[in-house]
Amino acid sequence: MPPLNRRSFLKAAGLAAAGTNVTMLAQPITIEEAQTPVAANDHIQLALIGAGGQGQGDTRTAITVPGVKLVAVADCYDGRLAHSKEVWGNDIVTARDYKEILARKDVDAVLIATPDHWHRQIAVDAMKAGKDVYCEKPMIHIYADGPAMIETAASTGRILQVGSQRVSSIIYAKAKELLASGAIGQLNMVTARWDRNSSIGAWNYSVPLDASPETCDWPRFLGSAPKVAFNAERFFQWRKWKDYGSGVAGDLFVHLFSGTHFITGSLGPTRAMATGAIRFWKDGRDVPDVMLGLFDYPEGFNLSLRVNFVNGGEESEGFLFTGTEGTMEIAGTTLTVSRTPREKEPGYSIGTFTNDMQKRFLEQYRAKYPAQDPTNNPTSIVQKYAAPRGYSDSYDHFHNFFNSVRTRKAPVEDATFGYRAAGAALLSNLSIERNAIVQWNPKTMKLA
Ligand SMILES: NC(=O)c1ccc[n+]([C@@H]2O[C@H](COP(=O)([O-])OP(=O)(O)OC[C@H]3O[C@@H](n4cnc5c(N)ncnc54)[C@H](O)[C@@H]3O)[C@@H](O)[C@H]2O)c1
Repeated sequence: MPPLNRRSFLKAAGLAAAGTNVTMLAQPITIEEAQTPVAANDHIQLALIGAGGQGQGDTRTAITVPGVKLVAVADCYDGRLAHSKEVWGNDIVTARDYKEILARKDVDAVLIATPDHWHRQIAVDAMKAGKDVYCEKPMIHIYADGPAMIETAASTGRILQVGSQRVSSIIYAKAKELLASGAIGQLNMVTARWDRNSSIGAWNYSVPLDASPETCDWPRFLGSAPKVAFNAERFFQWRKWKDYGSGVAGDLFVHLFSGTHFITGSLGPTRAMATGAIRFWKDGRDVPDVMLGLFDYPEGFNLSLRVNFVNGGEESEGFLFTGTEGTMEIAGTTLTVSRTPREKEPGYSIGTFTNDMQKRFLEQYRAKYPAQDPTNNPTSIVQKYAAPRGYSDSYDHFHNFFNSVRTRKAPVEDATFGYRAAGAALLSNLSIERNAIVQWNPKTMKLA
C-alpha cells in the first residue's frame, strides 16, 4: 500500500490540524434504533446453556438488544439455575440437561457459555436441533472441534457466531480502517499483553458452600473429559486444568488472536513458538501462569504475546501495532496512533573520519540529497480515539449476532474465523508440549 503523506494521514485520521486530539467514536447503534419496539411475535427467543460468570453476564447484555427474550437456562449446578430464576423470573424454564432445552420449539437461538470442552458437542447438537448459536470463545478445546463445528454450521445452514466480543468493537473497527489506510506504514510487528496480579485474575473463582455431587451434576460437567471423582475446584475453577480448558492459550491468547486477525485481515500465523511455566500458582493446576508466544504471519509481520498472572504491578491488557511509519496502540477503550513519516534522507555519521574525508563526504551527500526544507522534517503526529462513556462491545457483538439471526447473513465472527483464532492460540500449547517450533497452514486450517 502506498505510504501516506502528512496531509493524507490527517485526512484519514479525520483531523484538520496537527497535534494530539481525542476523537470520540460514534456509537454504531443509534438510540432511535435501540428504542424501536419489536413486536412480541417477532422476538428471538434465547436459551442460555452454561449460566456461570460469562453466561449470566452475556445474557444480561443479550436481552438488552431489542426483540430478544430469554426463555430457558441449562446448567449443571443447581445454585445457578436457582439464581437464573431470581434474576430473570420464574417463567424461564430451567434444566440440568441442555438437551431438554434444545428439544423446545420456543427456543430460536442458544448462547453457549460452558467450559470449553463442551463447546463443540453442544454447538453441534444445537445446530442439528435447528437453533442458531452464539458460542463463547475459545471456539475449540481440541483441534478436531474446529472442522466439526464449521461443517455442521454449513450443513445445517445455522448461524454460528463466536464470542470474542472485541471483534465488534468500534475501537477495533477504527484500528482496522487506519491500518488499511496506511496510517502507520507497513506493519511489521504486533505485540499484545494481558497481565493480571490477583487471585481471581488467576482463575481462583469462588466455590459455593453447597458444592457437592448432589448440587453439581458432576458426570454431566465431565462429559467426554477423563472420569475423576467429584472435585469442586475442578467444577468451579475448570480453567486451571487442560481437561476442560486450554489454559492461557484458549482463555486469553485467543482474544489477542481475534483482535490481530480482525484488525490486520490476516487469516493467521504460519509458525509458532512458545514458552511458559507455573511460576507462582502451584495450587494443583496443570497450565502455566506465565506464558509467552511468538508467531510469524505470512503478511510480513511478527506477533508477540504475553500473559502474566503474577506481574506484581498494574493489571493491563493491550496491543501495540508497529509499522514502518508509526505505531498504533489499543489500551482499554482508547486507540492512539503516532505517526512519524520516514526520513527523506539517510543522514550521516562522519565525525570520526578525517577532516578532508568529512568535507568530501558532505559535498557528495549534499549533491545527492539537496538540503531539505526544514518545515518538511519528519515530526510525529499523535491522534487519540476513544469510545463513548459506557460503550459496550459485547452489546454490539450481540446486536451483530441477532442481526445475522434475522437476516441470515454471515455473522461477523463465524466458525471459520473462530477456528482460525483458537487454532492459532492452541499452537502455543503444542509448541510447549513438543518443545519445538510448530507450523500451521492458516488457509487450510491444518497443522503442518
Ligand atoms: N468473551 C469473554 O470475554 C469471556 C469471558 C469469560 C469467559 N468466557 C468464556 O465463557 C465460557 C464460560 O466461562 P465462565 O467463566 O462463565 O465459566 P463458569 O465456570 O463460571 O460457568 C460455566 C458454567 O457451565 C456449566 N456447565 C458445565 N458443563 C455444562 C453442561 N454440559 N451443560 C450445561 N451447563 C454446563 C457449569 O455448571 C457452570 O455454571 C468459557 O468458554 C470461557 O472461555 C468468555
